[in-house]
Amino acid sequence: MRRALYPGSFDPITYGHLDILRRARRLFDELVVAVVENPRKTSLFTADERRKLVEAALREEKIPKVRVVSYSGLLVDCARELGAVAVVRGLRATSDFDYEFQFALTNRDLDSEIESVFLMTAGQHSFLSSSLVKEIGQYGGDVSKFVPACVAKSLKAKFGTKKKPKEAR
Ligand code: PNS
Repeated sequence: MRRALYPGSFDPITYGHLDILRRARRLFDELVVAVVENPRKTSLFTADERRKLVEAALREEKIPKVRVVSYSGLLVDCARELGAVAVVRGLRATSDFDYEFQFALTNRDLDSEIESVFLMTAGQHSFLSSSLVKEIGQYGGDVSKFVPACVAKSLKAKFGTKKKPKEAR
C-alpha cells in the first residue's frame, strides 16, 4: 500500500488544488489531504473550516476515497504518523520553484525516507492561487471559475460582513 500526503494551507481549496489531487490519486494507492498550518501565512479560514471546505469540495466534485486531516507541526512528522511514503506538491509557474525546492530539500534532511513528488499544474490553473481567489471574493467578484460552489458560498459568507471598498471618485 503506497500512501501519499498532499499538504497545503488550502485557504481555501481551488480548482487548481483539485486538479493536482485528482491526478495524484491515480499515482498512489491512497491519498491523504493534510490541511496544515503554515506559520508564514495568516489564514482567512480556520483550520477546521479549511478541512471542512476540502471535504465539501471533494463531495461536490465527486472525488471519492480521499481522507482529509488537519495538522499543526512539521510536515514530515505528519507524513510519518500517517505512514505516507511521499509528499505531493503542485508546481504552477517557475515562481513556485525556489520555495518548493527549499521545502523539499529541508524535508529530505528531516526525513530521507519521505520523497517529494511534484506535479505540473494544468495550463488553465497556472496563475490560480488561493490568495487571488480571496482578493476577488473580498471585493465581491465572481470566483465561480476558480473554486467549487461550496467554497464560493463560504467566501461570500466570510466577506459578507466585511466592508466593501469605497467607490472611486
Ligand atoms: O499551501 P501552502 O501554504 O503552500 O502549504 C505549505 C505547507 C503548509 C505545506 C508548509 O508550509 C508546511 O508543511 N508547513 C508545516 C511546517 C513544516 O513542516 N515546515 C517545513 C520545514 S521547511
